[in-house]
Amino acid sequence: MLTHVQICDVALRDGLQNLSSFVPTETKTSLLRRLVACGVKELEVTGFVHPRAVPQFSDAEAVLRAALDQPGVLIKSLIPNRKGAERALDAGAKQLAFVFSASEVHNRSNVNMTPDQSLEQLGAIVGLLRSRSDVGLQADLGTTFGYYQDPVSLEVIESLTEKIIGLGIDQIMYCDTTGLGDPLRVEALVKRIRPAYPELTFGFHFHDTYGTGIANCVKALECGVGYFESSVAGLGGCPFSINASGNVATEDLAWIMGKMGVDTGIDLPGLVETASWIQQEILRGGLITSRVYNALRGLDQKGNAAWETIPRRDRTVL
Ligand code: COA
Ligand code: ZN
Repeated sequence: MLTHVQICDVALRDGLQNLSSFVPTETKTSLLRRLVACGVKELEVTGFVHPRAVPQFSDAEAVLRAALDQPGVLIKSLIPNRKGAERALDAGAKQLAFVFSASEVHNRSNVNMTPDQSLEQLGAIVGLLRSRSDVGLQADLGTTFGYYQDPVSLEVIESLTEKIIGLGIDQIMYCDTTGLGDPLRVEALVKRIRPAYPELTFGFHFHDTYGTGIANCVKALECGVGYFESSVAGLGGCPFSINASGNVATEDLAWIMGKMGVDTGIDLPGLVETASWIQQEILRGGLITSRVYNALRGLDQKGNAAWETIPRRDRTVL
Protein backbone atom coordinates (compact mmCIF):
# COMPACT_ATOMS: atom_id res chain seq x y z
CA MET A 1 0.00 0.00 0.00
CA LEU A 2 1.07 3.60 -0.59
CA THR A 3 2.79 5.34 2.31
CA HIS A 4 2.01 8.87 1.16
CA VAL A 5 -0.94 10.52 -0.56
CA GLN A 6 -1.26 13.96 -2.12
CA ILE A 7 -4.30 15.96 -1.00
CA CYS A 8 -5.51 19.02 -2.86
CA ASP A 9 -7.87 21.15 -0.78
CA VAL A 10 -10.69 22.59 -2.90
CA ALA A 11 -12.46 24.68 -0.26
CA LEU A 12 -11.49 27.89 -2.04
CA ARG A 13 -13.28 26.73 -5.18
CA ASP A 14 -15.81 23.93 -4.67
CA GLY A 15 -16.21 24.92 -1.02
CA LEU A 16 -17.22 28.48 -1.72
CA GLN A 17 -19.23 28.21 -4.91
CA ASN A 18 -22.36 26.93 -3.18
CA LEU A 19 -22.43 29.63 -0.49
CA SER A 20 -25.09 32.24 -1.12
CA SER A 21 -23.41 35.18 0.59
CA PHE A 22 -20.26 36.66 -0.91
CA VAL A 23 -17.09 35.90 1.04
CA PRO A 24 -14.82 38.98 1.02
CA THR A 25 -11.59 38.63 -0.95
CA GLU A 26 -9.46 39.15 2.20
CA THR A 27 -11.31 36.32 3.99
CA LYS A 28 -10.63 34.00 1.05
CA THR A 29 -6.95 34.96 1.20
CA SER A 30 -6.86 34.37 4.98
CA LEU A 31 -8.32 30.89 4.46
CA LEU A 32 -5.64 30.16 1.89
CA ARG A 33 -2.87 31.21 4.28
CA ARG A 34 -4.33 29.08 7.07
CA LEU A 35 -4.48 26.00 4.85
CA VAL A 36 -0.91 26.52 3.67
CA ALA A 37 0.19 26.89 7.31
CA CYS A 38 -1.42 23.46 7.95
CA GLY A 39 0.93 21.91 5.38
CA VAL A 40 -1.50 21.77 2.47
CA LYS A 41 0.73 21.80 -0.61
CA GLU A 42 -1.93 21.90 -3.31
CA LEU A 43 -5.09 23.99 -3.42
CA GLU A 44 -7.77 24.68 -5.94
CA VAL A 45 -8.49 28.36 -5.77
CA THR A 46 -11.39 30.16 -7.45
CA GLY A 47 -13.05 29.60 -10.82
CA PHE A 48 -12.68 31.68 -13.97
CA VAL A 49 -16.34 31.20 -14.80
CA HIS A 50 -18.99 33.73 -15.74
CA PRO A 51 -19.55 35.91 -12.66
CA ARG A 52 -23.28 35.71 -13.35
CA ALA A 53 -23.12 31.90 -13.05
CA VAL A 54 -21.14 31.99 -9.79
CA PRO A 55 -21.06 35.50 -8.25
CA GLN A 56 -18.79 34.14 -5.50
CA PHE A 57 -15.96 34.10 -8.07
CA SER A 58 -16.39 37.64 -9.33
CA ASP A 59 -13.06 38.38 -7.57
CA ALA A 60 -11.24 35.46 -9.29
CA GLU A 61 -8.34 37.57 -10.60
CA ALA A 62 -7.66 39.23 -7.23
CA VAL A 63 -7.87 35.94 -5.30
CA LEU A 64 -5.57 34.09 -7.68
CA ARG A 65 -2.99 36.90 -7.70
CA ALA A 66 -2.94 36.90 -3.90
CA ALA A 67 -2.62 33.10 -3.84
CA LEU A 68 0.36 32.90 -6.14
CA ASP A 69 2.88 34.28 -3.64
CA GLN A 70 3.02 30.99 -1.66
CA PRO A 71 6.34 29.29 -2.44
CA GLY A 72 6.25 25.52 -2.90
CA VAL A 73 2.45 25.41 -3.12
CA LEU A 74 0.61 24.38 -6.27
CA ILE A 75 -2.41 26.59 -6.95
CA LYS A 76 -4.87 25.39 -9.54
CA SER A 77 -7.86 27.28 -10.84
CA LEU A 78 -11.04 25.96 -12.40
CA ILE A 79 -11.88 26.93 -15.96
CA PRO A 80 -14.96 25.94 -18.00
CA ASN A 81 -13.87 27.17 -21.44
CA ARG A 82 -11.23 28.97 -23.49
CA LYS A 83 -12.28 32.38 -22.23
CA GLY A 84 -11.78 31.16 -18.66
CA ALA A 85 -8.31 29.88 -19.58
CA GLU A 86 -7.37 33.26 -21.07
CA ARG A 87 -8.55 35.08 -17.96
CA ALA A 88 -6.68 32.68 -15.67
CA LEU A 89 -3.46 32.99 -17.69
CA ASP A 90 -3.72 36.79 -17.64
CA ALA A 91 -3.96 36.59 -13.85
CA GLY A 92 -0.76 34.49 -13.72
CA ALA A 93 -2.20 30.96 -13.33
CA LYS A 94 0.32 28.13 -13.42
CA GLN A 95 -2.11 25.22 -13.18
CA LEU A 96 -5.54 24.94 -14.78
CA ALA A 97 -8.35 22.49 -14.03
CA PHE A 98 -10.73 22.26 -16.97
CA VAL A 99 -14.15 21.07 -15.87
CA PHE A 100 -16.78 19.22 -17.84
CA SER A 101 -19.21 16.46 -17.06
CA ALA A 102 -19.72 13.00 -18.46
CA SER A 103 -23.48 13.48 -18.00
CA GLU A 104 -24.84 15.59 -20.84
CA VAL A 105 -27.72 16.74 -18.61
CA HIS A 106 -25.34 18.04 -15.98
CA ASN A 107 -22.86 19.49 -18.46
CA ARG A 108 -25.59 21.53 -20.12
CA SER A 109 -26.86 22.83 -16.83
CA ASN A 110 -23.36 23.59 -15.52
CA VAL A 111 -21.52 24.99 -18.53
CA ASN A 112 -24.21 25.18 -21.24
CA MET A 113 -22.41 22.74 -23.55
CA THR A 114 -22.57 19.10 -24.61
CA PRO A 115 -19.57 17.01 -23.51
CA ASP A 116 -18.31 17.09 -27.13
CA GLN A 117 -18.51 20.88 -27.20
CA SER A 118 -16.57 20.96 -23.94
CA LEU A 119 -13.93 18.70 -25.49
CA GLU A 120 -13.63 21.18 -28.38
CA GLN A 121 -12.98 23.94 -25.84
CA LEU A 122 -10.41 21.70 -24.15
CA GLY A 123 -8.67 21.18 -27.49
CA ALA A 124 -8.52 24.95 -27.99
CA ILE A 125 -7.00 25.37 -24.52
CA VAL A 126 -4.35 22.75 -25.27
CA GLY A 127 -3.50 24.84 -28.36
CA LEU A 128 -3.33 27.98 -26.24
CA LEU A 129 -0.89 26.32 -23.84
CA ARG A 130 1.42 24.96 -26.54
CA SER A 131 3.80 27.88 -26.06
CA ARG A 132 3.39 27.82 -22.26
CA SER A 133 5.38 24.89 -20.95
CA ASP A 134 5.26 26.55 -17.49
CA VAL A 135 1.50 25.99 -17.18
CA GLY A 136 -0.05 22.63 -16.25
CA LEU A 137 -3.47 21.38 -17.26
CA GLN A 138 -5.68 18.76 -15.64
CA ALA A 139 -9.10 17.61 -16.81
CA ASP A 140 -11.82 17.40 -14.14
CA LEU A 141 -14.37 14.85 -15.28
CA GLY A 142 -17.57 15.67 -13.41
CA THR A 143 -20.43 13.20 -12.72
CA THR A 144 -18.02 10.27 -13.16
CA PHE A 145 -20.45 8.09 -11.22
CA GLY A 146 -23.61 9.44 -12.83
CA TYR A 147 -26.13 12.21 -12.41
CA TYR A 148 -29.52 11.27 -10.93
CA GLN A 149 -31.70 10.41 -13.96
CA ASP A 150 -28.64 10.25 -16.19
CA PRO A 151 -26.48 7.24 -15.33
CA VAL A 152 -22.93 7.22 -16.63
CA SER A 153 -21.38 3.87 -17.58
CA LEU A 154 -17.76 2.82 -17.23
CA GLU A 155 -17.64 2.62 -21.04
CA VAL A 156 -18.49 6.33 -21.28
CA ILE A 157 -15.80 7.20 -18.74
CA GLU A 158 -13.25 5.10 -20.59
CA SER A 159 -14.15 6.70 -23.90
CA LEU A 160 -13.93 10.25 -22.46
CA THR A 161 -10.62 9.33 -20.82
CA GLU A 162 -9.33 8.23 -24.21
CA LYS A 163 -10.46 11.50 -25.82
CA ILE A 164 -8.81 13.58 -23.08
CA ILE A 165 -5.56 11.64 -23.42
CA GLY A 166 -5.85 12.00 -27.20
CA LEU A 167 -5.66 15.77 -26.70
CA GLY A 168 -2.30 15.32 -25.01
CA ILE A 169 -3.47 15.63 -21.39
CA ASP A 170 -2.05 13.15 -18.90
CA GLN A 171 -3.81 14.17 -15.69
CA ILE A 172 -7.47 13.52 -14.88
CA MET A 173 -9.44 14.10 -11.71
CA TYR A 174 -12.49 11.84 -11.63
CA CYS A 175 -15.11 13.91 -9.83
CA ASP A 176 -18.11 12.37 -8.11
CA THR A 177 -20.20 15.53 -8.32
CA THR A 178 -23.35 13.84 -7.04
CA GLY A 179 -21.80 11.50 -4.47
CA LEU A 180 -23.34 8.49 -6.25
CA GLY A 181 -20.07 6.55 -6.25
CA ASP A 182 -19.48 3.52 -4.05
CA PRO A 183 -16.37 1.43 -3.33
CA LEU A 184 -17.24 -1.30 -5.84
CA ARG A 185 -17.62 1.22 -8.65
CA VAL A 186 -14.42 2.96 -7.61
CA GLU A 187 -12.56 -0.33 -7.80
CA ALA A 188 -14.13 -1.21 -11.16
CA LEU A 189 -13.11 2.17 -12.59
CA VAL A 190 -9.50 1.92 -11.39
CA LYS A 191 -9.22 -1.66 -12.68
CA ARG A 192 -10.39 -0.53 -16.07
CA ILE A 193 -8.47 2.74 -16.42
CA ARG A 194 -5.10 1.85 -14.88
CA PRO A 195 -4.04 -0.97 -17.25
CA ALA A 196 -5.53 0.77 -20.31
CA TYR A 197 -3.72 4.08 -19.68
CA PRO A 198 -0.57 3.45 -17.64
CA GLU A 199 0.78 6.91 -18.55
CA LEU A 200 -2.21 8.66 -16.95
CA THR A 201 -1.97 10.30 -13.54
CA PHE A 202 -5.38 10.33 -11.93
CA GLY A 203 -7.08 11.05 -8.66
CA PHE A 204 -10.54 11.21 -7.13
CA HIS A 205 -12.76 14.03 -5.94
CA PHE A 206 -15.62 12.62 -3.88
CA HIS A 207 -18.67 14.31 -2.49
CA ASP A 208 -20.12 12.83 0.66
CA THR A 209 -23.79 13.23 -0.30
CA TYR A 210 -24.73 9.68 0.72
CA GLY A 211 -22.00 9.16 3.33
CA THR A 212 -19.79 7.04 1.07
CA GLY A 213 -16.97 9.56 0.61
CA ILE A 214 -14.40 8.15 3.03
CA ALA A 215 -15.21 4.54 2.07
CA ASN A 216 -14.57 5.51 -1.56
CA CYS A 217 -11.24 7.16 -0.68
CA VAL A 218 -10.09 4.09 1.26
CA LYS A 219 -11.03 1.80 -1.62
CA ALA A 220 -9.17 4.04 -4.07
CA LEU A 221 -6.13 3.97 -1.77
CA GLU A 222 -6.28 0.16 -1.63
CA CYS A 223 -6.35 0.19 -5.42
CA GLY A 224 -3.13 2.24 -5.41
CA VAL A 225 -4.55 5.72 -6.03
CA GLY A 226 -2.66 8.38 -4.07
CA TYR A 227 -4.20 11.64 -5.19
CA PHE A 228 -7.38 13.15 -3.73
CA GLU A 229 -9.32 16.38 -3.71
CA SER A 230 -11.21 17.24 -0.53
CA SER A 231 -12.40 20.33 1.25
CA VAL A 232 -11.67 21.57 4.75
CA ALA A 233 -14.83 21.59 6.90
CA GLY A 234 -16.52 19.47 4.20
CA LEU A 235 -17.61 22.63 2.40
CA GLY A 236 -18.67 22.29 -1.20
CA GLY A 237 -21.27 21.40 -3.77
CA CYS A 238 -22.24 22.31 -7.28
CA PRO A 239 -24.86 25.06 -7.59
CA PHE A 240 -26.02 23.41 -10.84
CA SER A 241 -26.64 19.98 -9.31
CA ILE A 242 -29.77 18.92 -7.41
CA ASN A 243 -29.33 18.69 -3.61
CA ALA A 244 -25.56 18.89 -3.96
CA SER A 245 -23.65 18.42 -0.75
CA GLY A 246 -20.11 18.98 0.38
CA ASN A 247 -16.85 17.30 -0.52
CA VAL A 248 -15.20 14.73 1.66
CA ALA A 249 -13.76 16.83 4.48
CA THR A 250 -9.97 17.21 4.36
CA GLU A 251 -9.77 16.61 8.13
CA ASP A 252 -11.76 13.34 7.80
CA LEU A 253 -9.46 12.22 4.99
CA ALA A 254 -6.28 13.23 6.84
CA TRP A 255 -7.53 11.39 9.94
CA ILE A 256 -8.26 8.07 8.22
CA MET A 257 -5.02 8.22 6.26
CA GLY A 258 -3.10 8.85 9.50
CA LYS A 259 -4.88 5.95 11.16
CA MET A 260 -3.80 3.71 8.29
CA GLY A 261 -0.18 4.89 8.50
CA VAL A 262 -0.37 6.92 5.30
CA ASP A 263 1.36 10.28 5.39
CA THR A 264 -0.47 13.39 4.13
CA GLY A 265 1.93 16.05 5.39
CA ILE A 266 -1.06 17.85 6.90
CA ASP A 267 -1.34 19.13 10.46
CA LEU A 268 -4.67 17.79 11.69
CA PRO A 269 -5.18 20.02 14.76
CA GLY A 270 -4.43 22.98 12.49
CA LEU A 271 -7.15 21.85 10.11
CA VAL A 272 -9.63 21.51 12.96
CA GLU A 273 -8.79 25.04 14.06
CA THR A 274 -9.20 26.22 10.47
CA ALA A 275 -12.62 24.55 10.27
CA SER A 276 -13.54 26.31 13.51
CA TRP A 277 -12.43 29.62 12.00
CA ILE A 278 -14.52 28.88 8.89
CA GLN A 279 -17.55 28.25 11.06
CA GLN A 280 -17.22 31.67 12.66
CA GLU A 281 -15.89 33.79 9.81
CA ILE A 282 -17.54 32.25 6.76
CA LEU A 283 -20.53 30.23 7.92
CA ARG A 284 -21.46 32.65 10.72
CA GLY A 285 -22.10 29.78 13.10
CA GLY A 286 -23.61 27.48 10.45
CA LEU A 287 -23.33 23.71 10.67
CA ILE A 288 -20.15 21.82 9.82
CA THR A 289 -20.81 18.15 9.15
CA SER A 290 -17.25 16.82 9.15
CA ARG A 291 -16.94 13.99 11.68
CA VAL A 292 -13.39 14.73 12.78
CA TYR A 293 -14.11 18.41 13.28
CA ASN A 294 -17.10 17.62 15.49
CA ALA A 295 -15.10 15.04 17.44
CA LEU A 296 -12.07 17.23 18.05
CA ARG A 297 -13.30 20.80 18.20
CA GLY A 298 -13.39 22.84 21.33
CA LEU A 299 -11.98 22.25 24.76
CA ASP A 300 -12.63 19.69 27.47
CA GLN A 301 -13.57 20.75 31.04
CA LYS A 302 -9.90 21.28 31.94
CA GLY A 303 -9.39 23.63 29.02
CA ASN A 304 -7.36 21.15 26.95
CA ALA A 305 -7.92 21.00 23.24
CA ALA A 306 -10.17 18.03 22.51
CA TRP A 307 -7.49 16.10 20.65
CA GLU A 308 -5.36 16.11 23.81
CA THR A 309 -8.01 13.91 25.41
CA ILE A 310 -7.47 11.16 22.83
CA PRO A 311 -5.54 8.15 24.21
CA ARG A 312 -1.86 8.55 23.48
CA ARG A 313 -1.65 5.32 21.47
CA ASP A 314 -4.11 6.84 18.98
CA ARG A 315 -2.35 10.16 18.80
CA THR A 316 0.18 9.24 16.18
CA VAL A 317 -2.33 10.42 13.63
CA LEU A 318 -2.24 13.87 15.16
N1 COA B 1 -15.63 34.06 -17.82
C1 COA B 1 -16.28 35.24 -17.98
N2 COA B 1 -17.10 35.49 -19.01
C2 COA B 1 -17.30 34.50 -19.89
C3 COA B 1 -16.66 33.25 -19.77
C4 COA B 1 -15.79 33.05 -18.67
N3 COA B 1 -15.15 31.88 -18.49
N4 COA B 1 -17.04 32.46 -20.78
C5 COA B 1 -17.89 33.19 -21.54
N5 COA B 1 -18.03 34.42 -21.01
C6 COA B 1 -18.85 35.52 -21.54
C7 COA B 1 -18.66 35.70 -23.03
O1 COA B 1 -17.55 36.53 -23.28
C8 COA B 1 -19.96 36.31 -23.43
O2 COA B 1 -19.92 37.68 -23.05
P1 COA B 1 -20.70 38.79 -23.90
O3 COA B 1 -22.15 38.46 -23.75
O4 COA B 1 -20.30 40.05 -23.24
O5 COA B 1 -20.20 38.62 -25.32
C9 COA B 1 -20.97 35.63 -22.51
O6 COA B 1 -20.21 35.15 -21.38
C10 COA B 1 -21.69 34.47 -23.14
O7 COA B 1 -20.73 33.57 -23.68
P2 COA B 1 -21.06 32.03 -23.92
O8 COA B 1 -19.84 31.35 -24.43
O9 COA B 1 -22.32 31.93 -24.75
O10 COA B 1 -21.31 31.51 -22.47
P3 COA B 1 -22.62 30.87 -21.82
O11 COA B 1 -23.62 31.91 -21.50
O12 COA B 1 -23.05 29.70 -22.62
O13 COA B 1 -22.04 30.36 -20.40
C11 COA B 1 -20.21 29.45 -19.17
C12 COA B 1 -21.07 29.35 -20.40
C13 COA B 1 -19.32 28.21 -19.14
C14 COA B 1 -19.37 30.69 -19.19
C15 COA B 1 -21.12 29.50 -17.89
O14 COA B 1 -22.11 28.51 -17.99
C16 COA B 1 -20.34 29.30 -16.63
O15 COA B 1 -19.59 30.17 -16.22
N6 COA B 1 -20.50 28.14 -15.95
C17 COA B 1 -19.71 27.82 -14.80
C18 COA B 1 -20.49 26.99 -13.87
C19 COA B 1 -19.69 26.65 -12.62
O16 COA B 1 -18.77 27.32 -12.23
N7 COA B 1 -20.11 25.58 -11.97
C20 COA B 1 -19.48 25.14 -10.77
C21 COA B 1 -18.16 24.52 -11.01
S1 COA B 1 -18.28 22.84 -11.49
ZN1 ZN C 1 -16.99 18.93 -6.47
